[in-house]
Amino acid sequence: MTFPTKSRRSFFSAACCSTALPLALLLVLSLVPAGCGSGAAPAPEVEKDATPAEQNLGERIFIDTRFAEYFFANNSGINSPLATGDPVVAQVQNVYSGPMPGPFAGQSINCRSCHFVVEFQGVPNAGNRTYADFTNRSPIPLTMNGFDHTPRNAMQMVGSLATPGATFLHFDGEFVDPADLVKTTMTGRNFGWSPAQYATAIAHIANVIRQDNGDNVPSQTYTDGYSYAAVFAGTGLPAQDTIAAKYRINVTTASDDDVVNAVAAVVAAYAEGLQFKQDEYGRYIGSPYDAFLRMNHLPVQPNAGESLAAYNQRLYGLVSKLSNPIYVTPANGSFKYHSQPYQFGATELQGLLIFLKAAVNPTDGSQHAGNCAACHQAPYFTDFSFHATGVAQEEYDSVHGSGAFAQLAVPDLATRNANYDAYLPVTNQHPNASETFRRAATSSNPGYADLGLWNIYLNPDIPNPQNALQSLICALAANCAADQGLATTIAQFKTPILRDLEDSAPYFHNGSKLQFGDVINFYIDTSALARAGQLRNGDPALRNMSIDDSDVAALVAFLQSLTEDYDDA
Ligand code: HEC
Ligand code: HEC
Repeated sequence: MTFPTKSRRSFFSAACCSTALPLALLLVLSLVPAGCGSGAAPAPEVEKDATPAEQNLGERIFIDTRFAEYFFANNSGINSPLATGDPVVAQVQNVYSGPMPGPFAGQSINCRSCHFVVEFQGVPNAGNRTYADFTNRSPIPLTMNGFDHTPRNAMQMVGSLATPGATFLHFDGEFVDPADLVKTTMTGRNFGWSPAQYATAIAHIANVIRQDNGDNVPSQTYTDGYSYAAVFAGTGLPAQDTIAAKYRINVTTASDDDVVNAVAAVVAAYAEGLQFKQDEYGRYIGSPYDAFLRMNHLPVQPNAGESLAAYNQRLYGLVSKLSNPIYVTPANGSFKYHSQPYQFGATELQGLLIFLKAAVNPTDGSQHAGNCAACHQAPYFTDFSFHATGVAQEEYDSVHGSGAFAQLAVPDLATRNANYDAYLPVTNQHPNASETFRRAATSSNPGYADLGLWNIYLNPDIPNPQNALQSLICALAANCAADQGLATTIAQFKTPILRDLEDSAPYFHNGSKLQFGDVINFYIDTSALARAGQLRNGDPALRNMSIDDSDVAALVAFLQSLTEDYDDA
């Protein structure tokens, strides 16, 4: 079965067939084991796509390796290659297979170093990605405040920015505005900048944009080798390179801060454009699951005015009544980048039913009701909200003993406000904060834990997401007045999208689960803890989950049926 789909050229594969590549890029490509080798037949020229120019510009900046502190400190000219690259990008960590050669070796860190796409196509245990890396926590350029890795697993980015409703970003909801995320990331720890260097970071980024001569364009696809100044000016260029008026800026006369804001806006536009395969009406079509819904004339999305929860209930009703399901088989499609057959059969169907079903009277794990859709609502497989499912508790207790997380002292709002540095994350205003509750658990410091959303909610240094968070939390919290709901955010994390999970492993905010089966076993355990009242701040939906070992295979098959061939770069 074929569906119409908009396709874009991918960065590395398109670059392979381009003739006028800068030397620096050829060096990069020679390190990429991606089927670009000398023996490969020349790929056919691909038509220029219709991606808006500002998104192509955003992608070019996403890949550009010159914005990091390491480049600032070590360059001999904005347009010259580094003599020695930052060791952090020499290798890419992979929890499944061990380190792999880094596609950006010899350079310094960029967004793409933690959010890969097609760079590892064809590499066993790697393959295409949905903008995630391969490790539980990503190495960062310089040790800062005791961090030499990100506190969390790098998130996949596809489909999670262009969402209906508020777009909470990062596992803890630190951002609601993608441009805010981009600016903070490019000037922050992930790019090697310390809080004290904020002004230097802004000046350096503006400097790269102003002085760029266009030679660093990673591929002809992206704004045709014009300098950043010319592309941001937005006039006198071919139509495909002309960015929309609202993104244009004269980088020569604009302030450094305005240049960086313009950079953030186009990278945000790029990130917001990343989507799983959709038809022209914005309906998902890429996975065997999507094919199954269509072939059985099941509704693929809510009706106008229907809530996601109501749609999921209706879908459950219809699926459970299917008397003669038409299964998806390899005759209906195939995967280019995955080894399993393209299929949605009886086992996947059983998994879908478990996924959608809520237990009526949960007592033990025997009702084959996953209640997964209480939080992972189709068609996005997220509710765009936050929940405590026990991932932080499991990590903490695995280090400090069972029951330890329940005993961990967490301050109330007044105590927290009175001593920012003792409790909350590092910001430019609080460069020496301990960040004690946004850290991995470790035996050397029982004060370290990851309390997720708690770090952000009502944090005076992080004003931007507060309105959206407050509406969400006060709509859900039983008593938002007392402590303003802060206690309800302990150990809550953003519900991730479940599409094409194979391309963003490992799983959870701490990357602690390597396989789907590990995730399901976690839920069997955590829902039992929730029923026993032993899950700190445990989400009520977990008590309505009633699954046992006999449900694992079907749920795993169902998660696998959400796989698709994502290769949009
Ligand atoms: C050193 C690794 C690293 C680098 C470099 C990096 N990221 Fe991330 N990214 C992460 C991690 C880790 C997370 C999850 C953060 C969290 O939840 O605390 C993340 C989360 C995100 C998210 C949130 C996705 C979601 O669904 O909420 C977006 C968007 C994103 N990054 C974009 C970018 C952009 C744009 C850049 C470049 C300016 C970038 N990242 C650079 C590691 C990195
Ligand atoms: C109470 C809400 C809730 C329920 C119910 C729930 N989940 Fe989750 N799920 C989450 C949240 C929140 C996370 C992120 C947790 C973290 O990283 O700390 C998550 C993470 C995941 C992940 C990892 C995704 C990734 O990209 O890392 C998978 C897979 C998953 N859930 C599958 C399921 C399945 C299958 C079920 C039903 C058996 C289920 N979930 C039930 C809220 C829920």
